[in-house]
Amino acid sequence: MNSFTFWNPVRLHFGKNSIEQLEKEALPYHKVLIVYGGGSIKNNGVYDDVTKALAGKEIFELSGVEPNPRVSTARKGIEICKKEDIDLVLAVGGGSVIDCAKLIAAGAKIEEDAWDLVKKKVIATEALPLGTVLTLAATASEMNSGSVITNLETKEKLGWGSPATFPTFSILDPSYTFTVPVDQTVNGVVDTMTHIFEQYFNNAENTPITDEMSEGILRTIIEVAPKALKEPANYEYRETLMLAGTMGLNGFLSIGSRGDWATHNIEHAVSAYYDIPHAAGLAILFPNWMRHNLSVNPARFARLAEKVFGVERQGRSDEEVGTEGIQRLSEFWQSIGAPSRLADYNITEAEFDGIIEHTMFNGPFGNFNKLDREDVRAILEASL
Ligand code: NZQ
Ligand code: ZN
Repeated sequence: MNSFTFWNPVRLHFGKNSIEQLEKEALPYHKVLIVYGGGSIKNNGVYDDVTKALAGKEIFELSGVEPNPRVSTARKGIEICKKEDIDLVLAVGGGSVIDCAKLIAAGAKIEEDAWDLVKKKVIATEALPLGTVLTLAATASEMNSGSVITNLETKEKLGWGSPATFPTFSILDPSYTFTVPVDQTVNGVVDTMTHIFEQYFNNAENTPITDEMSEGILRTIIEVAPKALKEPANYEYRETLMLAGTMGLNGFLSIGSRGDWATHNIEHAVSAYYDIPHAAGLAILFPNWMRHNLSVNPARFARLAEKVFGVERQGRSDEEVGTEGIQRLSEFWQSIGAPSRLADYNITEAEFDGIIEHTMFNGPFGNFNKLDREDVRAILEASL
């Protein structure tokens, strides 16, 4: 393992009726900005639960946060915070809403424009207290400090964050995810699995604890996801997927190692050009990243194939076993309805040059294997 310091300050309230914790959490605050998306929380009762728990507070609202949240929307929230002296930002929604709320909370504390935080020209050293009520299991934004923001004018979608942007508290009631539609449930499953893969493909040695944790979560998702899709209001299935989503990217699986993260970088570039769901891009790109990098460490791919997908060795080489594992992953994702080709979104090579430049923002990237322009082009071409 690499040496590490682990710190995660998020107070997580998980379970049925955990919204009851909101009243206590909100006690120190008086002026609350509720941030939410396109209105799903108004249809499924979550909005009512939240406003009930905040009775007596002065409430402000910012609605309409887009999937792939825009910096322009965060700027509106920042303006409200500054003008109204907001003392708690409360995100109610999925990863997009939470990511936008992180930028609002940090942007409210600086004079400069919010995009300077995303571009890392200004580092967030403080932020308004941020709470989250999660309604979609996927990103783990509820328990990490990361945020991914899109700027349509510059065609950029970039990740940023700092120790100041961890939520103070997060409320996770699995029953709030009963209404997540089939396609978004699939997206959540693909995103969670890819977060685990991104961390699993690392070059640290002797990582049996995080390896086994990762493999166990992956096997559990593969078993439970098809059941949750058949029975969307089954509490136990949703509970399992929700905890999987949070565990997938709250830092525990990266203890002692440094994950790859190249596919996320490529996907963010693709969604900066084509406004496709994050996980749809991952479902298309990740198996091709795997094929491209199989030879870097075939034993790692073979281990994944055997331990997660139950591939039998039958005297074959690591490459052959690893290749079957990649195939099984593709088949699993397709069996639950995830896309497998850029063509499914009418994406051609027309914008590949721009996408490749976007991925090279910080030069060659990826910690399991460094990718250069030609590597990215090969992965994109294989994904057509
Ligand atoms: O807009 P609303 O009405 O909220 O509807 C949303 C949205 O249309 C809907 N939804 C959410 N909860 C629902 C629901 N519909 C019915 N019932 C519910 N209970 O689902 C749609 C998608 O929501 P979104 O928040 O965009 O999904 P997700 O949680 O997958 O977040 C995706 C964003 O997170 C970023 C992605 O790039 C993308 O922008 N990521 C953030 C990360 C992080 N902060 O750590 C890491 C990830 O890798 C990822 O990059
Ligand atoms: Zn992701």
